[in-house]
Amino acid sequence: MTLLLNGFELAKQCREQLAEKIKTLPRAPKLAVVLVGNDPASAVYVKNKEKAAAEVGIQSVVYRFDTISQKELLSLISDLNNDTEVDGILVQLPLPDDLNEKEILQAIDPAKDVDGFHPLNLGKLMIGEPAPVACTPKGCLKLIRLAKQNLTGLNALVIGRSVIVGKPIAQLLLKENCTVTIAHSKTENLPELCRHADILVAAIGKPKTVNADWIKKGAIVIDVGINRTEDGKLCGDVDFENCFDQCSAITPVPKGVGPMTIAMLLENTVEAFLKKTNIRP
Ligand code: GUN
Repeated sequence: MTLLLNGFELAKQCREQLAEKIKTLPRAPKLAVVLVGNDPASAVYVKNKEKAAAEVGIQSVVYRFDTISQKELLSLISDLNNDTEVDGILVQLPLPDDLNEKEILQAIDPAKDVDGFHPLNLGKLMIGEPAPVACTPKGCLKLIRLAKQNLTGLNALVIGRSVIVGKPIAQLLLKENCTVTIAHSKTENLPELCRHADILVAAIGKPKTVNADWIKKGAIVIDVGINRTEDGKLCGDVDFENCFDQCSAITPVPKGVGPMTIAMLLENTVEAFLKKTNIRP
């Protein structure tokens, strides 16, 4: 029997727990979101983040710009860093090409970096220090835990080496005592590597790339991909129907990793608030 790792339900439970916690706080945590440009997917993600924040009792403010200069954006981030009422800052990625994304991310106060993309926080993850962890990897680990608590000694394969997903999820799995391999677009013999993985995290960005023939019987499969098929339907990087019976547990797309990313953003915002105010509910 394959376990469906229902991110939609788990995210709902996480939000309910957060809403209860937030009720006990002296004020609502506040999240500032910056959206630049006209990317339709980013606009939808930000709308969903705004809605989810409101639902749990997090105050969110969205700064929307069609265009903005690097200097102006850095100045906005500096203002948000200095604003004592703002607990978390998120700059939606990708930024338009004329902006220097790395410089913008580095300008965010690491204590308010609810995305966990600041180099200091990524470095802390690397050396095993507590720090905000990127939302998608954090959500992936919670989904894996639905299938198995103790991951010690398992072979984990992460396909994708992005700073947002691949590298941080690899670090989280290493911390769980997995033997971790990171594969990427230049990796040779990917199907063979996959066949050794007890945990397979696919963050490839290509529809239905992973099929049953690549999967070790009983593997836990986490699909980070959000793609569209030719007929416009959402699908992941894993061929879900084809792989389902081969796995012990698998995330669907949609309603898998996606909702968990947003829930973890809310969790990181509450954690930033608690750390700043020194409150332990
Ligand atoms: N773009 C795609 N995923 C993310 C994310 O998790 N955070 C931000 N800020 N931008 C993204």
